[in-house]
Amino acid sequence: MTRRSGLALLLALSACSEKEPVGGGAAADGFSAAEMAKIAALSPLPELPPEPTNRYADDARAAALGQKLFFDPRYSGPILPGGAKDASNGGLGAAGERGKLSCQSCHIDPWLQDNRSNPPNVSLAADWIIRNTPTLVNSAFYKRFGWIAGPDSMWNQALFPAEEEHHLGGSRCGIAHLLWSKYRAEYDAIFDPLDPALDPAHLNASRFPAECKPKAAMAADGPWEKMAAADQRIVNRIFVNFGKAEEAYIRKLVSRNAAFDRFVAGEKDAIGASAKRGLKLFIGKAACDACHSTPFFSDNKAHNTGVPQTGPHVPMVENGAYDGNGFALGSPFNSSSEWSDDRNTGRLDGVVQAEEDKGKIRTKSLREVKETAPYMHAGQLATLPDVLAFYNRGGDAAHVGTKDPLMKPLNLTPAELADLAAFLETLSGDPVPAALLANTSNP
Ligand code: HEC
Ligand code: HEC
Repeated sequence: MTRRSGLALLLALSACSEKEPVGGGAAADGFSAAEMAKIAALSPLPELPPEPTNRYADDARAAALGQKLFFDPRYSGPILPGGAKDASNGGLGAAGERGKLSCQSCHIDPWLQDNRSNPPNVSLAADWIIRNTPTLVNSAFYKRFGWIAGPDSMWNQALFPAEEEHHLGGSRCGIAHLLWSKYRAEYDAIFDPLDPALDPAHLNASRFPAECKPKAAMAADGPWEKMAAADQRIVNRIFVNFGKAEEAYIRKLVSRNAAFDRFVAGEKDAIGASAKRGLKLFIGKAACDACHSTPFFSDNKAHNTGVPQTGPHVPMVENGAYDGNGFALGSPFNSSSEWSDDRNTGRLDGVVQAEEDKGKIRTKSLREVKETAPYMHAGQLATLPDVLAFYNRGGDAAHVGTKDPLMKPLNLTPAELADLAAFLETLSGDPVPAALLANTSNP
């Protein structure tokens, strides 16, 4: 039976159940027609939305190059003193060491999230960062990226960690040189050919310093500021193409066919009795689907749920979507910039940096949630029962901004909380194919 016909059958059964109760299917599980309609809105995961701002988004060659670069540490910058490996912190190298870190340092297989028990809650690469690393599986279904709903394209999101000093601390010139020395044939086959002056032996090699990126605010001019504007554009183009290749790779990390999806498709025993009771709570008494809506289990909006800023390395204040909007509007690589392959998507229409967005975090998708502990934007909650206890008490006090009115005590019993947890555990789909998790970087 195909998914679509299974869904149709379930809906038909539920329609009948209004008048005459039928045996079998979800109707037999006691779901009303209204509940059946809500359930049908949560599955299956659709095809990926097209990504017009990245013309390479579905280019298989770009995805292959993106995968290689995802695992390649050679452009990464120095490990900072705060992130240096010691017995307690799970660090990745000694202070000052270069070439030790890659995207995979934090996005670790099999679910491309930070599954290290040490670091404990937030992630560590060149240094501690302020948030926990989310899974990249199915992340292409988001509309804005990162916990704070920042960048308005995935390729823009991918650029930030490459250069940011606590993440990888690399630079766009370093990436351009790595592409020249190790990936030139592949790069040139997809994008406009690399500039021969990237060859260190070239007569004009000094046009492209070994490392360059825009200086920090207030800092003195560095190699980037001293470059000719035309050469900055050449490097920016390469950097953007790096981000677009990463997006092409990450768009392949889609997982479908969760037990819950099979249930909705008509396989009535795909989830157990406890999970079915949990599903009923999820769309009913607990009203989780007010925010965790759509087959992606996220409304793609940001809410202030009052998750406290606890744990080592977690700053006192998290401005959330307020900062996210500031990032998206101010990024030279946003969807309306010259680097976007479609500047008219309207993604940033009406977006402003509003006080009311302070403390709002993007609704996390709940697909694969069983695999992605610790939970919340800074890994504040260690387990799913911890998360459910948090919701049952109506969240905690907002440390900044105003808590969403949807957050209120739920008065769920321990048995009901266990049922909700059982339901959440049915949302993990097929693992990502091993070939997509392999380190394919060129020697
Ligand atoms: C130091 C750990 C770390 C490293 C290294 C890192 N990331 Fe991330 N990544 C994160 C965190 C944390 C987030 C969530 C962003 C935020 O809210 O601050 C994230 C988010 C993302 C997202 C968006 C996912 C979502 O749910 O919106 C993408 C895509 C991504 N990273 C790709 C990359 C790529 C590509 C690289 C390498 C160039 C990389 N990351 C390196 C920690 C890391
Ligand atoms: C007001 C909107 C809203 C409601 C209602 C809501 N959530 Fe959330 N949920 C969020 C947001 C926003 C986050 C991310 C919060 C953060 O990281 O600080 C989140 C995060 C989570 C996470 C952590 C996922 C991860 O990977 O870290 C789980 C699990 C979760 N919610 C389950 C539920 C359940 C179960 C319910 C119903 C009892 C529920 N949510 C109700 C908005 C909501």
